[in-house]
Amino acid sequence: MSALEFEILAKSGKARTSILTLPHYKVTTPIFQPVGTCGSMKGLTSKQLKELDCQIILGNTYHLALHPGGEFFGKCGGLHEFMNWDRGLLTDSGGFQMVSLSKLAEVTEEGVNFVSPKDGSQMLLKPETSIKIQNQIGADIIMQLDDVVHVLTSGKRLEEAMYRSIRWLDRCIKAHSRKKEQNLFPIIQGGLNPELRKICLKEMIKRDCPGYAIGGLSGGESKDQFWKIVSLCTDYLPEDKPRYLMGVGFPVDLIVCSVLGVDMFDCVYPTRTSRFGTALVWEGTLKLKSEKYQFDFDPIEKDCDCLTCKTYTKSAIHTLVTKETVGCHLLTIHNIRFQMRLMQRFRESIKNNKMPEFVRGFMKAQFKKKG
Ligand code: GUN
Ligand code: ZN
Repeated sequence: MSALEFEILAKSGKARTSILTLPHYKVTTPIFQPVGTCGSMKGLTSKQLKELDCQIILGNTYHLALHPGGEFFGKCGGLHEFMNWDRGLLTDSGGFQMVSLSKLAEVTEEGVNFVSPKDGSQMLLKPETSIKIQNQIGADIIMQLDDVVHVLTSGKRLEEAMYRSIRWLDRCIKAHSRKKEQNLFPIIQGGLNPELRKICLKEMIKRDCPGYAIGGLSGGESKDQFWKIVSLCTDYLPEDKPRYLMGVGFPVDLIVCSVLGVDMFDCVYPTRTSRFGTALVWEGTLKLKSEKYQFDFDPIEKDCDCLTCKTYTKSAIHTLVTKETVGCHLLTIHNIRFQMRLMQRFRESIKNNKMPEFVRGFMKAQFKKKG
């Protein structure tokens, strides 16, 4: 059963642009989903996210389970109500926190045992618990609990994690109690091993889910290895269902992987990098803490329509970003808007039959030799 519709509007090679109709919103793909780990977007309000044209955002089950907790969302009418957000919402299962908080987690067949960073108390996240909490949170798309290992893991442990992710998917499907309102996506695992990826693809595709995610990548492997695995996955995944590449958000990767047929992305990169004073621009990045911006009275990007570029200069942001939180706030606004505009331009290029030209122009700008 599925609570979404997926209509492909135009294609170019493996790339496609589509309308993904979710219970709360019609999303156009390929799409970047900003991450708001704890139920709010790093200082941005839901109203501001709408003004940036965000169509779908991502929340994290592990963090939301710790605070304010699944029961809370059950009572308050879900995360949509809580955030006053009426567009698309996706929650990750908590599986990834095994890697990102690895010192504090242990995996068994039953589930993942987390030790709370706050008070040392334990939380056993089982596939059933993750789904129960995600049912309470109420996002449009929910993710299976997966056994995530570092991308450079190989041998027995990699194989075990892949097969366990399939077994956990079956437990998630069984536990999912809101199939009419929420879409459960499996997560393809198997690291950099094509044979394991193919087994995982075959098994998960058999389960006939509403959409599929590709996991376990973008953690220190080479671009060449990363893109090859993405391409293998999009070769095997069904054409008529959305494909979501998890944890990927560098602008160049968004474009390459959209060319390879991915429809959805998420990453903390644009928001995290703004806290280090970095702005995303068509030509790459600007490190606005650098002294060279002290007297630069142009906006970050002249053609950008965001509040930051319309009202502040690089000089102002340079001065603010080292001292005032408003500096990173303004950069967050620009960086999220940059990702939205990039994906919008990619979608337009497919519709206008100009995708290869668009990609060449973007890559030329990104990799132009400076000086
Ligand atoms: N975020 C980035 N990669 C992954 C992954 O492999 N699994 C999950 N659950 N979340 C992710
Ligand atoms: Zn801007």
